[in-house]
Amino acid sequence: MPLLIVRNDITKMQVDAIVNAANAGLSGGGGVDGAIHAAADPELQEACRKLGGCPAGQARLTPGFRLPCKWVIHTVGPVWQGGGAGERETLLSCYRSSLELAESLGCESLAFPLISSGAYGYPKEAAVEAAREAIERFLWEHEMTVYLVLYGSESLAASHKYFDEIREYIDNAYVQEHPYRRNRRESLLFHREEASDSFGSGATPEDRPFEAESMPLFHAARADEETASDDREWAPGPSGTPAPASQQPAPKPAPKESAPGMPLGGHAHYAISFDSRFGRLDESFQQMLLRKIDERGMTDAACYKRANIDRKLFSKIRKDVGYRPSKPTAVAFAVALELDVEETEELLEKAGFALSRSSRFDLIVRWFIEREIYDVFTINEALFEFDQALLGNVS
Ligand code: APR
Repeated sequence: MPLLIVRNDITKMQVDAIVNAANAGLSGGGGVDGAIHAAADPELQEACRKLGGCPAGQARLTPGFRLPCKWVIHTVGPVWQGGGAGERETLLSCYRSSLELAESLGCESLAFPLISSGAYGYPKEAAVEAAREAIERFLWEHEMTVYLVLYGSESLAASHKYFDEIREYIDNAYVQEHPYRRNRRESLLFHREEASDSFGSGATPEDRPFEAESMPLFHAARADEETASDDREWAPGPSGTPAPASQQPAPKPAPKESAPGMPLGGHAHYAISFDSRFGRLDESFQQMLLRKIDERGMTDAACYKRANIDRKLFSKIRKDVGYRPSKPTAVAFAVALELDVEETEELLEKAGFALSRSSRFDLIVRWFIEREIYDVFTINEALFEFDQALLGNVS
């Protein structure tokens, strides 16, 4: 992993490769195809011509020419004919072929538009679902950062079955917290003013959702520990100082607490004694994370993939007992581990954060955890719709 939704013009993406939603003749067209051809160079047209076309569901390669990416992978999606003509299989094959081609080139990052969802008429909700299925399946076996790029004012709202309920939940929480502020406009203003507080005083600009709104195109998807020279330097510790860079190996979890082989499907409930909960006040974020992974009988890889975290960041955390993650990273692990609200709060506290009732990011996360919906992509769709930072990381 990770798989991240961003709002951008794909021709601006700083990735190893972008995918073009082309036609079978690779002759250029409108939509994303037109944008890519316009931004690349007339040479792209010539390179495409030499390829001699591409059947639906397959992928072909050209250089990126003047684009910021090294490669353009051209794939041809299905034209929507009502769903009974194998459109879904063809669409899955577009994603799979493009991912495999990118992998064979050694790409570490790849950006997709929503193939077939424009001129070819594939319903957007189903197009997102197919994209997600194909990409997640691939990422389970491979390491790559994959972006799903939505363009302009494109929205997932129409397809998001939880959207209205979440909005109501946020508004109710707002009214409870601030009964004297009555109307919706005040509610929204309140969220704007106060949401960024939930990321702590030391949070990076990337962590402040409404500052990210001022960036016109690139969505606030970066919680990039990896780009900081010292990962912990911007993470808000209780004292405002970075945690010591101890390299001690993680202690083994207490055998009494472990529940190896616990199935991951539903939410596992554990009887946690007073001693175990309050006797671990000194436990660091990393220690609690590793203990919980053991208690759930999970592998490291299963945990970081479910958390939408890449292997590099997880190894860093594993090596550093005092590691301080960003809030979206810490929450992503809580979700991957299927922690309840109380345990999520405990894990966040280890990293210097809280789950408040006055920020949209926190309320959205809480809404999903309370309902035991532990799918990071589903949560990210909602976070995306509400212009919040996404769970997971990019490297
Ligand atoms: N960046 C990212 N996404 C974009 C951009 C852009 N610059 N421009 C358009 N999109 C989005 C659209 O909003 C849509 O969600 O790309 C998605 C795919 O739409 P189309 O480009 O119309 O692609 P598709 O539906 O697969 O149709 C392909 O259109 O232009 C022709 O030659 C192309 O015939 C082919 C057909």
